[in-house]
Amino acid sequence: MAGRFRETALLGLTKGEVIDAVSASRLGRVLDPLAHLLRRNGSLTLGHEAARVLVQAFNYAHSEGVPGAYAEFGVWTGRTFVEAWRVGTAAGTPRRYFAYDSFEGLPEVEGGDQTGRWETGEFSQSRRAFEARLRRAGVPAGDVGIVEGFFDATLTPAVAEPREVAIAWVDCDLYLSTVPVLDFLTDRLSQGAILLFDDWFCFKGDPDAGEQKACREWLSRNPGISLIPWRQFNWAGQAFIVRRAETKEPAA
Ligand SMILES: C[S@@+](CC[C@H](N)C(=O)[O-])C[C@H]1O[C@@H](n2cnc3c(N)ncnc32)[C@H](O)[C@@H]1O
Repeated sequence: MAGRFRETALLGLTKGEVIDAVSASRLGRVLDPLAHLLRRNGSLTLGHEAARVLVQAFNYAHSEGVPGAYAEFGVWTGRTFVEAWRVGTAAGTPRRYFAYDSFEGLPEVEGGDQTGRWETGEFSQSRRAFEARLRRAGVPAGDVGIVEGFFDATLTPAVAEPREVAIAWVDCDLYLSTVPVLDFLTDRLSQGAILLFDDWFCFKGDPDAGEQKACREWLSRNPGISLIPWRQFNWAGQAFIVRRAETKEPAA
């Protein structure tokens, strides 16, 4: 069914637009410090722009029949991951959800990555805490694959699953972390997949740093892949639709 859209409408406004209007109001500004505190304590769910782009991505993938899993590279506390499972399940197409993280935080920050604001070990969060959050949110263990370890060791061509990825959320901050993620995805991204970079405009937007640099180099290594700019979200996020020169062979 084309154009299926699951956001609730209120007075002709989408839920995101209602939230935007409340945030911009005097009440929204008064409540903002409280919201900030709650967010810092992890008590709030995802910010509405990230939640909204997830809804759009899953509705798009469902409506356009894009097959494959959701894969998130850098899951930290699981906030985005749980929201992805929630909206993905509501969108209708059954999918698996893959979480990739060292669960020790960022690797050694070196080379050009040192020009950013990142620190070695930042975002350290145990796998146990991540799994506990999934349980609290009611995410069935069978829906999820967790791959623990640093990407340069875990994201190898020999890894069998997932063979197809419909939505990839790349949220690992650093150039050196993004390189193995994109190489891992090269043959797995479905035609029309959504590729989201959470940190695209970090490094003060420098196109020669971070996720932008890794992506540009990946595209030049893979001329059969092109990216159609799709949406921006939050203050640093950029999402693309992936076009492949040839339709991928269906999984054997
Ligand atoms: C900003 S946090 C992710 C936030 C999460 N997506 C969310 O929305 O709540 C970045 C994560 O990437 C992980 N990470 C970064 N580089 C990595 C690497 N090379 N290997 C494994 N994990 C990495 C860190 O451990 C951290 O949990």
